[in-house]
Amino acid sequence: MFERFAEFFLPPQRSTVAAEVDGLFHFIHISGFILFIGIVATIVYFAIKYRRKSEDEITPVISHNTRLEIAWSVIPTIMILIVFSWGFRGFLNVNTAPSDAFEINVTGVSWFWEFEYPDDGIMLTDELVVPVNQPIKLNMRSEDVIHSFFVPDFRIKKDVLPGRNTTTWFEATEVGESIMFCAEYCGTEHSAMDATIRVVSEEEYEEFLEEEAVDIEDMPLAELGELTFQQQGCQSCHSVDGTDMVGPSMQGLYQSERELDDGSTVTADEDYLRRSIVDPRAEVTAGYPNNMPTFYGDRLSDREIDALVTYIKELQ
Ligand code: CUA
Repeated sequence: MFERFAEFFLPPQRSTVAAEVDGLFHFIHISGFILFIGIVATIVYFAIKYRRKSEDEITPVISHNTRLEIAWSVIPTIMILIVFSWGFRGFLNVNTAPSDAFEINVTGVSWFWEFEYPDDGIMLTDELVVPVNQPIKLNMRSEDVIHSFFVPDFRIKKDVLPGRNTTTWFEATEVGESIMFCAEYCGTEHSAMDATIRVVSEEEYEEFLEEEAVDIEDMPLAELGELTFQQQGCQSCHSVDGTDMVGPSMQGLYQSERELDDGSTVTADEDYLRRSIVDPRAEVTAGYPNNMPTFYGDRLSDREIDALVTYIKELQ
């Protein structure tokens, strides 16, 4: 009965912590509901029973009622202590990853998510693939503003901050797909900042690792460029078919005359393309918002930048 009730308005429980989180949620919810009904019923009952019945009726003087006062102090105190200890235990549990957890790096960027598997040679993916029944620890950081990593099915939510690492963990209990959201308002495309989490069997996970682990060094430049373009989430703001999105389309960009927001013009040659990747806010095409994240430092290797430029040049 209780499980049915849970499913009535909560998402499915798909992690090891979900049942405990839901239990506490329902305890608070139901006890609040019972108190509300009890208080309202008492008000209505008293209002009718003790209503003024005649013109010269005088209200009796009642200074206190010890038993009643003890009851309404002790019972709520006990309930609050239950909620505190239950919640504190859950808080510790949700914030402390088991020592055998498998680690994945998560980066929030306006407005997409990147997942990196540092131990398995997987550079970046835009969906999170994890094995079932295995604790996963997420090391999270933001490239720009505050985002928040939220997976309703797993009952986890944690802010992702620029200049600081935060961590969270989960252990998925069934194979399937769940959606994760950004739960912190972070700008124009905040509502589209979601990603899929695919929970797979141990065997499928091994296959995923073999397929995704790429040998960057051996890949032809244009091909690496296309891969990097997808992995870095470029396509969430730039189309490759001429469609206008948050940023200009990449199609036909190479060698075109760009009118910049300061009124000057520049030819989009190789060097301009390169500058626009490593320092995108310096020369912004007129009519587009100046909010592209920079790709300097260890975010992209020189070879990956070359590869992106090669790829963009071919989009004519
Ligand atoms: Cu990122 Cu909202």
